[in-house]
Amino acid sequence: MHIKAKEIKKTFGNRMILDGFNLEVASGETVVVIGPSGSGKSTFLRCLNGLQSIDSGSIEIGEHRLEPATSESFTPFSPKLRKMQGMVFQDFNLFPHMSVLGNVSEAPAMVDKLPRNEARQLSLELLKKVGLENHANHYPSQLSGGQKQRVAIARALAMKPKVLLCDEVTSSLDPELKHEVLDVLEKLKSDGMTLLMVTHEIGFAKKAADRVVFIAEGKVVEDGPPEKVLENPENQRLRSFISRLLG
Ligand SMILES: Nc1ncnc2c1ncn2[C@@H]1O[C@H](COP(=O)(O)OP(=O)(O)O)[C@@H](O)[C@H]1O
Ligand SMILES: [Mg+2]
Repeated sequence: MHIKAKEIKKTFGNRMILDGFNLEVASGETVVVIGPSGSGKSTFLRCLNGLQSIDSGSIEIGEHRLEPATSESFTPFSPKLRKMQGMVFQDFNLFPHMSVLGNVSEAPAMVDKLPRNEARQLSLELLKKVGLENHANHYPSQLSGGQKQRVAIARALAMKPKVLLCDEVTSSLDPELKHEVLDVLEKLKSDGMTLLMVTHEIGFAKKAADRVVFIAEGKVVEDGPPEKVLENPENQRLRSFISRLLG
């Protein structure tokens, strides 16, 4: 499913966070977003799935269109749009009192109204996909960070999203656990999932991204193939950003 964000502006108070933000993602594409802390990366993802409203500009997601909030009572939350976009966060956000199976099957059972046994079957398949079929009855506290994050991915997939938004999903993981999560994402990519990921895993970006997008101060500053953006950047800010990352 394609995404097209045009001239997005978003302010918090009197601070301009997104300032004419343009980005397109084609169906089946993997796009990695990099940029300094505070540059608006998470805000953009939240605007995309309607967790936050935009002040101006427009967002197309498949055949849906998100417009700016027009009144105080406007609520950007749209269940349909949310369902099309799975979101995975840095800090997992699993339900601590539910088993792994419970975490994954909760939304299909409660939101999609799948009968419990079907939700359970779907969840077991997804847990297999992320390599955790033997942990279905464990609780989040019994899992490593890498395992928790793979549960979070399975949980997002359980709603059969058309695009997966990943916000720094390996940032809180020990280095040796990152690859288990990145490998799962690479597999999803090869299955044809559209992936929009904020990540500073440069090795992953080089290997798996179709495009890398550098954002700074609420704007896309550079957008191109990973070898171009990461190895031969035009923008001076991006150059110093990358040398600090590799640094
Ligand atoms: N709900 C909010 N209210 C006020 N300011 C916010 C809110 N969310 C984010 N910000 C501010 O917007 C800026 C961009 O934040 P964010 O999108 O989280 O950046 P990034 O993900 O690139 O680090 C930051 O300065 C942050 O403090
Ligand atoms: Mg962020």
